[in-house]
Amino acid sequence: MWFKNAIVYSLDVETFADGNGDGIGDFQGLLERLDYLEGLGITCLWLQPFFPSPNRDDGYDVMDYYGVDPRLGTLGEFAELSHQLGQRGIRLMIDLVANHTSDQHPWFQEGSRNPQSRYRDYYIWSERKPKDAEEGMAFPGVQESTWTWNEAAGAFYFHRFYKHQPDLNIGNPEVRTEILRIMGYWAALGVSGFRIDAAPFLVEFSGAKDAHREPDYEFFRQMHRYLSWRRGDGVLLGEANVPLDQLDRYFGDGDRLHLLFNFLVNQPLFLALARQEAAPLVHCLKRLGRIPQMCQWAHFLRGHDELDLGQLTEADRQEVFAAFGPDPDMQLYGRGIRRRLAPMFGGDLRRVEMAHSLIFSLPGTQVIRYGDEIGMGDDLSLEERNSVRTPMQWTPGPTGGFSSAAPSELIRPVIQSDRYRPDRVNVCDQLGDPGSLLSRMQRLIALRRSCPEVGFGETVLVATDRPAVFAHMCRWKGHAVLALHNLAERPMTARIEPEILGGRRPVPLAADRTYPAAEQEFELEPFGYRWLRLV
Ligand code: GLC
Ligand code: CA
Repeated sequence: MWFKNAIVYSLDVETFADGNGDGIGDFQGLLERLDYLEGLGITCLWLQPFFPSPNRDDGYDVMDYYGVDPRLGTLGEFAELSHQLGQRGIRLMIDLVANHTSDQHPWFQEGSRNPQSRYRDYYIWSERKPKDAEEGMAFPGVQESTWTWNEAAGAFYFHRFYKHQPDLNIGNPEVRTEILRIMGYWAALGVSGFRIDAAPFLVEFSGAKDAHREPDYEFFRQMHRYLSWRRGDGVLLGEANVPLDQLDRYFGDGDRLHLLFNFLVNQPLFLALARQEAAPLVHCLKRLGRIPQMCQWAHFLRGHDELDLGQLTEADRQEVFAAFGPDPDMQLYGRGIRRRLAPMFGGDLRRVEMAHSLIFSLPGTQVIRYGDEIGMGDDLSLEERNSVRTPMQWTPGPTGGFSSAAPSELIRPVIQSDRYRPDRVNVCDQLGDPGSLLSRMQRLIALRRSCPEVGFGETVLVATDRPAVFAHMCRWKGHAVLALHNLAERPMTARIEPEILGGRRPVPLAADRTYPAAEQEFELEPFGYRWLRLV
C-alpha cells in the first residue's frame, strides 16, 4: 500500500539536467541529481514521456513505446536509473500514453498506407468527415478539428488531441494486447507505476459504428489485473478530470485505477486561495465522499499542463483568473492558467509554502512538480503550456547550471526575468539556507512522511470562527493530526471549540514559524499554517 502515503515528484528528463552538454536534459544528468531527490525526501519519481518522439507535444506523441529518445540517453541508462532509485527506496512511475500515438509511429505509417495491413484497424477511420468533427477538441482555440484527412489512407482519422496524434482503436483486441505488453515491458525494467494519460479518452469508442457505445471502463480492470501479476506493488494513476458522479467508473470496487489525480479538489482549492476563504474547499471536501479502501487520491497544485479550471462555474473561473492570471496571455484554451505557482502568487513564497502544506494535509498522496520546490517562474513568451516547462535552475548564472552549453543552445530558454532568473532562484543557494523555500519544502515532506494518518485515515472538517482559516483533522487507529491553514494575507487567530478535539491536547508538530502554545485560540501569520498532533 505504498501508494497511500507517497510523495511523488514529477519531472521531464529533457528539462531537468543536461549531462553531456548538448543543451538537452538527459538520463545521465538525472542520474547525477539523484542525491538531490533523495535529500528532498520524495518516495516516488514520475517521469514524463521519454520515448522516441517527433516531440510535437512534449513527448506525448510516442513513436516507439519500447525505447528511449536518443536525445535523452539510452535504455541502458534508463535501467541504471531504475536500479539506482531502487537502491534509494524511491519508486519509479512513468507515463503510459496509449490513447494515441504519434502519426510517425510505424503502426500509423503502415496502417495508413496499406488497407490490408493489420495496423489499419489500430486507428479510427471514416471515409466522410463526421458531422461532429468540430466538437470535443482537447485544445480549443489551437486545434481545429477531431477528424483530419489522411492522403495515404484516403480517409479521415480521429484524434482527440492534436492532429499529429491519431487515436488508437480501443475496440480492437490487438490494440489492448499491445497496451498490456507495453506495461509488462516497463514493469520488467523496474517501473512500479503508470500515469494513465487521458484516461477517459483511452476507453471511449469513436467513429461511426461505435459512436453510441459506452466507454469500456472494464479495460482499467484488465490493466490492473495484468500489472498485479507482473508486480505486486504496481499501481495505475489516472489522469481523469471528470465529475464526482463518474468516479466509480474509474475506481471500480478498488479493482480499476488505484489512484486518480484530484481535479475535483484542485479547482475549488484555487478558488479558495483566490478568495482567501476556506468555504469552496470545505464544500467540495464534504461532497467528495469515500473511495474504495484500495484506492487513493493524488493531490497536486500545478502540473506540466495548464491549471485547468474547466469544472468551475464561469463566475468562479473568472474570479480565479482575476486573482492569478488576469492577462489573456496567461490563460489558455478558455479554461486554464499557464503559469507557475510562484508568479501566480505574486512571488509570495509564504503562500507557495502554505499551499504545499495544505495539499500535503489532504487525504491522499501528494504530487509535486520540479521547480515548484524552489519557487521557479514561468516564461509566457513560450507557446501554450511550454511556459511552465523551462529548465530546472540549479545554480546562479545564465543557464542555471542546467547545462554547460551556451544559453542559445538550450532546448528551452532558462527563465530570464529579473525576479525569477537563476541568480535569484536556484537550488544551490536555497540548500544552504534553512529559511529558504527549498529547506521548508524538505521539512514539509519529512512532516508528511511522519503522518500516515493523512494517507490512511479519515478526514474530519473542523469549524473555526475565521472564514479564512481551513482547519481539519486526520484520524487513524487512535492517532490524530490537526492542521490549520490561513488562506488570507492578514494574520488570523482562529478559535476551535475544545470539545471538537475530544479532550485531547494539541502538541505542535510543524508550522511556518514558532507559535505560542495554544489549546483553543490558534494564532496564524499571513498565509501561516500549523500542524499539531492530538495526544
Ligand atoms: C495529457 C497530458 C498533456 C498531453 C495530452 C495528450 O493531457 O497531460 O500534456 O498534451 O495528454 O497526450
Ligand atoms: Ca544532453
